[in-house]
Amino acid sequence: MKKIGFLLTIQFCSQLLFAQVSQNLSPTPPMGWMSWNLYGLDINERIIKANADALVETGLSKVGFQYICIDDGWQGGRDKYNNLIPDLEKFPSGIKALADYVHSKGLKFGIYSSAGKTTCGHLTGSYGFEEQDAKVFAEWGCDYIKYDFCDLPSDTLLWRELGAKFSNGIKKTGRPMVYSIGAFDEISKPWTWAPAMSQSWRMGWDIRDVWETEKYTWDKNGILNTFDSNIVLNNYARPGGWNDPDMLVVGLYGKGWASSKWGNTGGCTDIEYQSNMSLWCLLAAPLMISCDLSTINAATKDILSNEEIISINQDPSGKQATLKIKDSIWNVLIKPLADGNYAIGILNRSKTNLPFQLNFKELGLLGKYNIRNVLQHKMDGNNKTVWKGKVQSHETIVLFVSAGKN
Ligand code: GLA
Repeated sequence: MKKIGFLLTIQFCSQLLFAQVSQNLSPTPPMGWMSWNLYGLDINERIIKANADALVETGLSKVGFQYICIDDGWQGGRDKYNNLIPDLEKFPSGIKALADYVHSKGLKFGIYSSAGKTTCGHLTGSYGFEEQDAKVFAEWGCDYIKYDFCDLPSDTLLWRELGAKFSNGIKKTGRPMVYSIGAFDEISKPWTWAPAMSQSWRMGWDIRDVWETEKYTWDKNGILNTFDSNIVLNNYARPGGWNDPDMLVVGLYGKGWASSKWGNTGGCTDIEYQSNMSLWCLLAAPLMISCDLSTINAATKDILSNEEIISINQDPSGKQATLKIKDSIWNVLIKPLADGNYAIGILNRSKTNLPFQLNFKELGLLGKYNIRNVLQHKMDGNNKTVWKGKVQSHETIVLFVSAGKN
């Protein structure tokens, strides 16, 4: 009996310790850039450096985007000691030199591996080498690891076991590296086990550069489909652990290897890209940009560098928004903020621009409120109980609401 009590105490303490480590590593959702959606496996050190340069030159690093993450496609097998090595044609200077370059810009560096023998792109995976690979990543100076689960059966217990092996490998290195479970399938449901070992977990299929698709499948899956499956998981998000609805598709405009070619989508409008950003911020989601930052246009830069909306995403309370109004046209979301105020999202799902009236009472907000339109950077009324306005098709308006004079 005493022994069981002792073991339970140890387990409890190690959970507390893990919660603290996670909070330190990722107190708010990670923000950065990731190579997959646009470049797929066709990456090289020139592309990664150009995007690191542009993250700084565009000022996006100043508003919080700090991780430059290489996704699948960098691997060149193992050396005679079984250490992972990069494809030297794509990365002739090696990964350590690239990480050093990224660090020299004041940014952080992320890398990708996968729990199976091969990755989703059929390159060398970490199966059987979990500790060794985590050690190599630490020696290279990685700060973030996306860990995928291809080339494995859909089996929750197996995924959990392999996920934990890699997590232990990271712990042993002693280097603080954000551990992001980068995989999903409907059986393995990462949110049921990943919060105990990682700082974020994918909760849906790969996002495509499209507003909505009829079916939600691995190759057909738009912004709205992803939002719909994420919003119901709001209880899992907390400081140190985030539901990951995949990269932002903002600014891809139908270009891209993975997000567009496979999905054959044609891209989204700027209003839809703004909605992508607004919804991901309300969801307290990791914000990983995936377009080419070196050719970014003004509209994309505006969407991505809105500090007011980013502060909602980065709010220290770490609460994901909940859906309060839901019909075939309107979705209204509310995200409580640490200072007692609220962020409200109003999404028009229809194909028409429409007027909308929101009584704050319907959200359980019973007083009078000062309203700020976060997308337009201006006040939209003081001491109000109702907000009225026009919402364009597929737009998500975001309001910051604070107590007024009652
Ligand atoms: C899976 C992941 C993607 C990407 C690719 C790489 O599909 O969901 O985000 O990492 O693998 O092969």
